[in-house]
Amino acid sequence: MMSSVLQLTLNGRPRADVVPDNMLLVDYLREVCGLTGTKLGCDGGECGACTILVGDHARLSCLTLAHSCAGQVLETVEGQATRGELSAVQRAFHEQLGAQCGFCTPGMIMASEGLLRHNAAPSEDDIREALGGNICRCTGYIKIIESVQAAAQILSTAKGEAA
Ligand code: FES
Ligand code: FES
Repeated sequence: MMSSVLQLTLNGRPRADVVPDNMLLVDYLREVCGLTGTKLGCDGGECGACTILVGDHARLSCLTLAHSCAGQVLETVEGQATRGELSAVQRAFHEQLGAQCGFCTPGMIMASEGLLRHNAAPSEDDIREALGGNICRCTGYIKIIESVQAAAQILSTAKGEAA
């Protein structure tokens, strides 16, 4: 198998790793980078547990080749807290009980993050659509939707305070 150097920015830090040319992004994150927050939940493309951000857009890392992200800016759930403080989305999921077993949560958080970066005031339909590819077997989704709404609120309050 051919391997080559992959350079990208992950959670704010530049990296260069020798990576098999056909390695999936989810395997690169978990096995090469040791970031096991990104989950592998299905046979491919059906559960959303592996969702990360590539250049501010949610992407299924189980359907993405690591090398296709060369030169790009990637974020996983591990990169969301700053200086030990939860991101608004993480905080909202925690406070609104948007996580139960937690398996789907990293993917939910990253899909929500991807939504809120492009739509600061999403409707319930927008949220349902953005999280449509993310499956949760525990929460019944209501708490998750409330978490995203709460995150939007936290972000808009923080923006108001900064202005
Ligand atoms: S592991 Fe990627 S969608 Fe299920
Ligand atoms: S919290 Fe258990 S799968 Fe979503």
